[in-house]
Amino acid sequence: MDEAGGSRVTILDFARRREAGEPIVMITAYDALFASLVDSAGVDSILVGDSLATVLAGEETTLGATLEQMIYHGRMVQRGTERALVVVDMPFLSYQVSPAQAVRNGGRILKESGVGAVKVEGGAPMAPAVEALVTAGIPVMGHVGFTPQSVHQLGGVRVQGRSEGAFQKLIRDVKALENAGAFAIVLAMVPAVIAKRLTEAASVPTIGIGAGPRCDGQILVLHDMLGLSEGESPHYLKRYAEMGAEVRSAVASYAEEVRKGGFPGPEHVHRM
Ligand code: KIV
Repeated sequence: MDEAGGSRVTILDFARRREAGEPIVMITAYDALFASLVDSAGVDSILVGDSLATVLAGEETTLGATLEQMIYHGRMVQRGTERALVVVDMPFLSYQVSPAQAVRNGGRILKESGVGAVKVEGGAPMAPAVEALVTAGIPVMGHVGFTPQSVHQLGGVRVQGRSEGAFQKLIRDVKALENAGAFAIVLAMVPAVIAKRLTEAASVPTIGIGAGPRCDGQILVLHDMLGLSEGESPHYLKRYAEMGAEVRSAVASYAEEVRKGGFPGPEHVHRM
């Protein structure tokens, strides 16, 4: 049971956690199997990130993720969980055009996948869309700092908010999002000292990724922290396992045994 007496974590629990100084634990998942594993490990919330475009589909950026894909993966994750609040990323161009477009598409995500909230990237310019979503009864998580859907506009994957001017802009963004009704805000790739100031200035929980320890919660991409992702890790990442190497070694052993006649062995065959 959560604090609200229900079986699932809600957006009210996010606020209570911040108030009580209890860190909020978030992680990504894209399917029912991993969602069920991370849910039973006790995370508070699962993000069905549009990072599925890069992590699962092997694309260069998140821009190709579609609304249909997000609904499909959201439904899988919701089905695989009992306790965590499931949040689905609204994909690129599904909310930026107008508040009405945001409500139509955010509504489809909640209605068709059954999850509890959506996430949108961007600061003050997205406030009208966030307000329209919240007015329609759709809980919204904001996301500022490095926003992958704007990777081309930002000139690549880079830390944000380093100058005083950039920090002031981030403060305005955080305030605009919370005034519009966002229940929490992801701070992505901002210096730890800036994330601390933003968290102090905010009145809703901040969830950091590459933003240091002084946020109200943390989020990591599951496949990265499990060591499943190939290539260079971001500097802020801690790999809690090396599952990529485990998978490769298990499959290589299987291949070798099949080729040498070691599998199936006598214990794996049906007897007459
Ligand atoms: O898409 C995603 O996985 C995200 C997290 C990195 C916060 O937005």
